[in-house]
Amino acid sequence: NPPNLQMGEGSVLERSSCRAKGGAPGFKVAILGAAGGIGQPLAMLMKMNPLVSVLHLYDVVNAPGVTADISHMDTGAVVRGFLGQSELEAALTGMDLVIIPAGIPRKPGMTRDDLFKINAGIVRTLCEGIAKCCPNAIVNLISNPVNSTVPIAAEVFKKAGTYDPKKLLGVTSLDVVRANTFVAEVLGLDPREVDVPVVGGHAGVTILPLLSQVKPPCSFTQEETEYLTKRIQDGGTEVVEAKKGAGSATLSMAYAAVKFADACLKGLRGDAGVVACAFVASQVTELPFFASKVRLGRTGAEEVYQLGPLNEYERIGLVKAKKELAESIQKGVSFIRN
Ligand code: NAI
Repeated sequence: NPPNLQMGEGSVLERSSCRAKGGAPGFKVAILGAAGGIGQPLAMLMKMNPLVSVLHLYDVVNAPGVTADISHMDTGAVVRGFLGQSELEAALTGMDLVIIPAGIPRKPGMTRDDLFKINAGIVRTLCEGIAKCCPNAIVNLISNPVNSTVPIAAEVFKKAGTYDPKKLLGVTSLDVVRANTFVAEVLGLDPREVDVPVVGGHAGVTILPLLSQVKPPCSFTQEETEYLTKRIQDGGTEVVEAKKGAGSATLSMAYAAVKFADACLKGLRGDAGVVACAFVASQVTELPFFASKVRLGRTGAEEVYQLGPLNEYERIGLVKAKKELAESIQKGVSFIRN
């Protein structure tokens, strides 16, 4: 059975892992929910990342199949599969970075908050495992509603005595990826040249693109500002509706997750000037968590940047964003405390 070949110590693949480590520095990465719509392309893209030496794929279904498939790619990372709760601890032990896309996605008509009931419990269980087996790992949390699941994770880690706010990062990079794409379309630029900061949170009006701070410097009419802000905020819903019940964004999300994970790994490696937007513990506003640009380093989000100057439209958006965010954060905190 080929996937089992990878499990034993001293196996062919263990030895190749040592060789990989002898060359470029490699990190150990686990994906929890690796057999899902996001998990599978995310696993594939992480297998292609030269900074990854070991890739653990965990899910409650189909992990062996995805692992067998991905493991045939002739890239450096050694892949191992883990199926079900009884293998969670083995999946997590020794990891440097844990990426979590586990949980149900939206169907048409649902908000991200409608996912809370099921995903809150999934995130709690997975974070209890992280606290026990790899308390120093960086965590990239994708499972929705991110505005509540990040506070849930923080509370789980606090209870376990392992909480390091620098290491818990809610993934909002898809909002930035979408913003770059939509803004480039309006400006007639290559999206790779565009950088749009997106702050706040990851749901509806909490997604606040700062169009006044777009690079390269540019200006928008009021009509363009309203069109772009709404399209960026509703980007997820655009995909949910187009998929007609078959799920939410998976391919663009996997791309965005890998962009962000790669930034985290470059930070861990000690690269200078690695900056990305993420939903983190924050003192930028009066809220305990907020998404903004952060500098990623050896210990995680080492610096959380201020928002910079906002225009009138953005200031009004910020007030709306904070109101909804406060409720979502509280809901997550209460889930663990009560
Ligand atoms: P999916 O349903 O295709 O995959 C989810 C996977 O999680 C499944 O393979 C399932 O077996 C697994 N899973 C369920 N319970 C688990 C547990 N206890 N432990 C480990 N794995 C478990 O869903 P999809 O499309 O991959 O979305 C995953 C999550 O990502 C959803 O909550 C979705 O809302 C969220 N998402 C977040 C985005 C963001 O920007 N942060 C963007 C798009 C989706």
